[in-house]
Amino acid sequence: MTKLRTGVVGLGWAGTVHACTMTAMPGIDLVAVSDLDPAKHTAFPHVPTYHDLEAMLRLELDYCVIATPSVTHEQYALALAAAGVPALIEKPLAPTAAAARRIHEAFTRTGTFAAVGHTERHQAPLAELARLLCRGDFGELWQMSTRRQGPYSGRILDVGVAMDLLVHDIDLVSWLAGAPIESVTAATRTLAGPYEDTATATTVLRGGLLAHHHADWITPFKHRSVQVHTAAGVLTADTVAGTLTHHPNTAAPTPAGCFPGVQGGEARLIPLPEQEAPFTVEHRLMRDALLGADPLGLVSLAEGADIVSATEALLTAATTGHTTPVPARQLALT
Ligand SMILES: NC(=O)c1ccc[n+]([C@@H]2O[C@H](COP(=O)([O-])OP(=O)(O)OC[C@H]3O[C@@H](n4cnc5c(N)ncnc54)[C@H](O)[C@@H]3O)[C@@H](O)[C@H]2O)c1
Repeated sequence: MTKLRTGVVGLGWAGTVHACTMTAMPGIDLVAVSDLDPAKHTAFPHVPTYHDLEAMLRLELDYCVIATPSVTHEQYALALAAAGVPALIEKPLAPTAAAARRIHEAFTRTGTFAAVGHTERHQAPLAELARLLCRGDFGELWQMSTRRQGPYSGRILDVGVAMDLLVHDIDLVSWLAGAPIESVTAATRTLAGPYEDTATATTVLRGGLLAHHHADWITPFKHRSVQVHTAAGVLTADTVAGTLTHHPNTAAPTPAGCFPGVQGGEARLIPLPEQEAPFTVEHRLMRDALLGADPLGLVSLAEGADIVSATEALLTAATTGHTTPVPARQLALT
């Protein structure tokens, strides 16, 4: 079997996980890595290491990962698109909606395949939650809430917690509900540094579904949860514990049009399929898509741009204090 020749730009936290995953993945050959920082050049001694992407473009890569800080994604993405090299670009696609749209346009113009690294979709509890909701097992969606907290990593210097972390949840609620975000109200707080370290928001999805979000970098423990209220009870995906819990609503059915009421039953853990690491799922999907499979499961550039656009609207809402419409049509969901 011919292996795909791949590369990684940026060998920090995310780039290292990508490179390790790609090294272990059947059908993929990691043939080049690069980082601006010479201290990173010994990280993968068996892989040729470059100072910049320019030299890597001559290697005829089958795909390349961009795992540099978000403000630098555009310059690398445009170079890959111009050279016709498929890309997996880390989230957020870019720190502004305008830059994200330029990336989307460049790959579309050159007919080059690319995806965005919203790996949270591949967390087992969330993947199972999406599957169950899509099958309609739990009836109507009533409300969603997301919480993503932890200590500041010290690595992210170019965006605040909204564009770094809450962006995952902006993606997740649209994906889980199958509906775009239409408007957002938000508040942020900055304790130190140039960007917010706490962000709280309510998004309104098409059809009126409300999703409440909280993300911060000021919590000494890690918390990651997505809660979905449905007619059949509350589903909680906890990606730190790796669990999906169902708290059933045992209230008796009522005539159509009447609020059915809520009554608690015994919580149960929903069994999950064997958990594969999210980055492994992502590279398997990427490999298979480039070998001709349906790219279903990967996050498209159109979706990535929409997610940035909604997160940018959140930051505008926090600055102005007004509910802000999400301007770009949610390309991938219409
Ligand atoms: N999908 C996920 O779950 C996930 C997790 C963490 C980070 N990320 C994303 O990955 C990207 C990198 O984040 P990180 O946490 O790995 O940061 P990091 O600081 O650990 O790594 C960034 C690396 O890029 C290098 N670099 C900086 N500027 C560069 C340039 N112009 N050219 C080449 N290399 C350059 C740095 O030397 C560093 O090694 C960000 O976009 C972040 O949002 C995604």
